[in-house]
Amino acid sequence: MVNHSMKTTIPKLRLGTSNLEVSVIGLGCWQFSKHTGMIGKFWPPVSDEETRNIIKVSLENGINWFDTAEAYGWGASEKSLSGALDKLGVKKKEVIIATKWWPILRFAGSIEKTIGKRLQALTGYNIDLYQIHQPYALSSVTQQMHCMADLVEENKIRYVGVSNFSAKQMRLAFQILKRRSIPLISNQVNYSLLNRKIESNGILKTANELGISIIAYSPLAQGILSGKFHKDTQISGKNIGIRQWIPAFRSSGLKKSKPGKMLVITMAASFSAPPFMHPSLKIILQRTNFLLSKDLMFFSSMMISVLENIPGALAAVFAKNVRKIFCKSISTVPVTGMC
Ligand SMILES: NC(=O)c1ccc[n+]([C@@H]2O[C@H](COP(=O)([O-])OP(=O)(O)OC[C@H]3O[C@@H](n4cnc5c(N)ncnc54)[C@H](OP(=O)(O)O)[C@@H]3O)[C@@H](O)[C@H]2O)c1
Repeated sequence: MVNHSMKTTIPKLRLGTSNLEVSVIGLGCWQFSKHTGMIGKFWPPVSDEETRNIIKVSLENGINWFDTAEAYGWGASEKSLSGALDKLGVKKKEVIIATKWWPILRFAGSIEKTIGKRLQALTGYNIDLYQIHQPYALSSVTQQMHCMADLVEENKIRYVGVSNFSAKQMRLAFQILKRRSIPLISNQVNYSLLNRKIESNGILKTANELGISIIAYSPLAQGILSGKFHKDTQISGKNIGIRQWIPAFRSSGLKKSKPGKMLVITMAASFSAPPFMHPSLKIILQRTNFLLSKDLMFFSSMMISVLENIPGALAAVFAKNVRKIFCKSISTVPVTGMC
């Protein structure tokens, strides 16, 4: 059972123009894929007991939303999540669940055809946010949005989101839904201190303009920003799944991200100091500090929901003392307007 007396408060944000109030950090559930399917094989399997513990600690630390997907083990992650919530005695109104439709080699009609399976896998928990996982379906964005709108009108899902959509695709999705009086509330994209492309490719700007929330995935750059891999660069033999084949996790790749990691450590060490720091970053850094100092990873994975002022917030953390280090040593990260 969740120990509510231990519950800490994380600031909450409204997702887009919806009435979903989400904690600034959510729990990513890709890791609960049970090593099933191509995408689900990315992470080593997590037992039901460990899954339950991770979810319990997340809830006790104020997290109120979970991000899963059809492709995370073809239902395995959704089932692990709902099974754990159920065992922990969590009522459906107490949590917000985001899942995703997998579009590759599929037509938009599959959105309606597969929704029953999604609801079944979530065993009674609502789909508060249903996202198109990638912009690569066999049907147009327009057709996909009409199918998503149908699901909202049929009360099968509450809100519509997209993921990995460009600024142009996001704008089109927004306009199609708007014609049916349905908001597009989020775009889930890769965003971390090591990948800040959305600040310069129009995604963040367009999202701000249209009132769409950005949900940042891989905010720890899949573990690189935790510092763990820089501490011990010998990755062979470690239980890190497919990451062992990714260049960024190998010694040469880690050399490139080292300044980024140092930046995080520097900020983590002083996370309580700058009063202007955005709360979501403060929490991320708090957690990162935790990970660095105690190797205690209670979050299987983290996500940040980001609203309009994130570039300002990111800028704010590059306070005088770390700004110099950052500008000097990171060449892979765009620092426009920051130095
Ligand atoms: N929409 C999309 O296309 C998309 C793409 C990617 C991710 N996502 C979503 O975003 C979430 C977060 O992104 P991410 O997972 O890619 O990267 P991340 O949050 O940046 O990094 C994953 C972190 O999870 C930790 N972790 C993995 N398995 C764990 C376990 N069993 N117990 C404790 N900690 C564990 C890793 O620690 P170690 O380094 O110590 O293993 C690593 O620090 C995902 O879960 C998923 O929901 C969405």
